Amino acid sequence: MGTLLSRRDLLLLTAGTLLPGCSGNSAIRADAPAPGACFPTRPDALGPFFRPGAPMRMAIAAPGEPGERLTVSGQILGPDCSTPLDGVSIEVWQADRDGKYHGVDRLRGRATTPADGMFRIETVRPGAYLQGGGYRPAHLHFTFARAGHKTLTTQIYFSDDPYLAPVDSCKSCGSGDAERILILAGDAAAGWSGSVAIILAAA
Ligand SMILES: [Fe+2]
Repeated sequence: MGTLLSRRDLLLLTAGTLLPGCSGNSAIRADAPAPGACFPTRPDALGPFFRPGAPMRMAIAAPGEPGERLTVSGQILGPDCSTPLDGVSIEVWQADRDGKYHGVDRLRGRATTPADGMFRIETVRPGAYLQGGGYRPAHLHFTFARAGHKTLTTQIYFSDDPYLAPVDSCKSCGSGDAERILILAGDAAAGWSGSVAIILAAA
């Protein structure tokens, strides 16, 4: 931590986990860019479960929250895919392990990034849930906001999920975007971990 990481550095450091924007699993997406390409993280649906006023915290699951523990480390970078962004307002929210959303005090949080643009979410793995006649794959919801950059609302998925696109019941969502599908390390007993790079576009 504290080191300035390029998107590619993050990819190499976290082999076995993921790395958006860096043309990871190109087999999933037909329009995947060339390796090493630099482009902003794609937006995704806000969904109906956002609630304003979540606590300032990134440990969003209480110690007694049921489920498999999950740590998601991330770094937010500028449109050059290498400059860390401080002062980014992060909002994160998710369903519980059974796919249910709760009020602002459960599985929701906010934070502002320090100089290195990094964040670390301590939580449990969310569950898939029924919506629109089918299942939505498990996901974390985010918004990232910073002056001088486009506000990004997006979702992060998991590679071992059977409900990713094209099965995803939300056809306008982006669960087929390889750049936002985390490959987790770990297991149910010890906990899971993954990492992600978020690239914000200039305003
Ligand atoms: Fe959701």
